[in-house]
Amino acid sequence: MANGSIIDITDAYKAFGRNIHALRGVDLQVDAGEVFGLLGPNGAGKSTLVKILMTVVRPDRLGGTMLGRSPGDKRALAKVGYLPEHHNFPSYLTGRQVIEFVAAMTGMRRQPRRRSADRLLKRVGMWDWADKRVKSYSKGMLQRIGLAQALVNTPELVLLDEPTDGVDPVGRQEIRDLLLGLRDEGMTVFINSHLLSELEMVCDRVAIMVKGRVAMQGTIDDLTADSRHYELRIHGSAPDWIDSLPDVSMQSDEHGTLLRINGREPDGIQTLIDRLRAEDRTILEIRPVRDSLEALFMRAVTEGGEGFAGPGAVVGDEGGRP
Ligand SMILES: Nc1ncnc2c1ncn2[C@@H]1O[C@H](COP(=O)(O)OP(=O)(O)OP(=O)(O)O)[C@@H](O)[C@H]1O
Ligand SMILES: [Mg+2]
Repeated sequence: MANGSIIDITDAYKAFGRNIHALRGVDLQVDAGEVFGLLGPNGAGKSTLVKILMTVVRPDRLGGTMLGRSPGDKRALAKVGYLPEHHNFPSYLTGRQVIEFVAAMTGMRRQPRRRSADRLLKRVGMWDWADKRVKSYSKGMLQRIGLAQALVNTPELVLLDEPTDGVDPVGRQEIRDLLLGLRDEGMTVFINSHLLSELEMVCDRVAIMVKGRVAMQGTIDDLTADSRHYELRIHGSAPDWIDSLPDVSMQSDEHGTLLRINGREPDGIQTLIDRLRAEDRTILEIRPVRDSLEALFMRAVTEGGEGFAGPGAVVGDEGGRP
């Protein structure tokens, strides 16, 4: 794969009718072997992008490659697994039948189908429910069967649209572990989600999509680097000389005073600590702090609404037609 990218798409445009510009020039790179998270508020265009990659929706314009081939190439799609959003498996089938049905569509013969379904039912924790009908399943169980059918062709790349939708916290943890397990086996995992804390726990890299464009893309570490600072809590009120320090702000409450020191290097706070200790001030706590993915997301969404043009953003007119 060129540059190690399993997905390397450029210039993706899609409008529904005249007024809905779902994708307005998306560039996205996903590296082989990583867990990649595509984040964005409702209506940002996440599902449209995945549907285009799966050829469920026809793009107005699309460049680049998936698995080294043109997007939509059947040989590439044969190596991709897909969990659609709002999937609706026939309710009269059992979980096992859903998996075997999808396996049959990939051209697998009866015996391997059976073995594959057995293996996947165990893997997603649905063994005991395998022969019950889908209509008796909870949302979490449906998602587990959805994951199992996405893995039936032992894909190199799996595209999961909101995989933990409706799943309780224990189930979510199990799905996270499963996804990390898949990555450790060499699979590339692409997740669409708006559950930020969740992606923070599993993703190697993320892209934040706002109004049909990618506002930011990178490792969570890189994206939050600029926000790194230290917080230092001291007993009582702050000494007067703190006011004159350029990179320090403070806030007092009944527990003491919280100092915020801008900058990511620990060197920056040593002199401050020495000075406070020389005055016999009690330091209650020192900790490095950085933005959470949630803070980053909020910033991208807020700024994205007002002509945001951060890294990866594509600037154009509001219509954004190709
Ligand atoms: N088939 C369609 N016909 C018309 N409009 C559509 C169609 N599919 C999507 N849209 C519109 O395109 C925009 C992007 O939708 P999309 O489903 O890709 O967003 P999303 O980021 O997946 O949102 P969510 O988080 O709610 O799943 C929305 O305004 C949506 O209403
Ligand atoms: Mg969606």
